Amino acid sequence: MFEVLNNEILAPGLHRMLLRAPRIAAARCPGQFVIVRSAAGEERIPLTIGDADEDAGTITLFVQALGAGTQKIVAVEPGGYLRDVAGPLGLPTHIENWGRVACVGGGVGTAVLYPLAKALAAAGNQVTTIIGGRSAPFIILEEELAAFSAQVRVTTEDGSRGRQGFVTLELENLMASSASRPEVVFAIGPVPMMRAVAELTRPQAIPTIVSLNPIMIDGTGMCGGCRVVIGDEAKFACVDGPEFDGHLVDFQSLGDRLSMYRDHEDQCRIGLHQ
Ligand code: FES
Repeated sequence: MFEVLNNEILAPGLHRMLLRAPRIAAARCPGQFVIVRSAAGEERIPLTIGDADEDAGTITLFVQALGAGTQKIVAVEPGGYLRDVAGPLGLPTHIENWGRVACVGGGVGTAVLYPLAKALAAAGNQVTTIIGGRSAPFIILEEELAAFSAQVRVTTEDGSRGRQGFVTLELENLMASSASRPEVVFAIGPVPMMRAVAELTRPQAIPTIVSLNPIMIDGTGMCGGCRVVIGDEAKFACVDGPEFDGHLVDFQSLGDRLSMYRDHEDQCRIGLHQ
């Protein structure tokens, strides 16, 4: 059992949860995730470890309450417990000093980007962070990211904060000048956003790393649920990823697999509110 120490709403539907999990806090690296179940028999939800404090023995998870499983997780109040938190899982992010790096986050992807951007800055990179969301309330962690980014650029679809449009607009600006062109781009967010970033960087051959979020069940490479196509090869995001070369990812098949259970998910969500 894992105690919930704090549970705050960061943006509409997005919770930041602090858990007591000393062994995970001591072992985790940026880019790794855990699989969480709110109670026995409940859905297993993969969640990136947003941050960890080894001394305090805590980890931070960002949970977007989209489906029935995530809604049950965010419903646990401080002082309550989550049944299982398994991890750390997945391969750690490969971090080195590339020079100029752009970190692009969309929606809850910004939360996933946070530990990565922090580690890239700590390795000596000059990090420009670009974050986007539907509107101002969906822009998260701007201040936290500014603490170690050379610059944070914000876009919103309705123009209520930062520049109106998508994150790709700001990335395009950055890429237009040799003085700001990133050596490497990390992009984390919805599948269409990561795909758009990869297509933008492809003509200039800027290495682009994306973090994939397919359906996961066991998190150990046994069930095949998280299969993704990278180049001509089938890979399992839980053991081979979750980060991959964005120029090799088959985003179409990833999107198709993610939408496979949408009807079932809708029914579960309706059941939860009856
Ligand atoms: Fe089962 Fe990856 S979650 S193989």
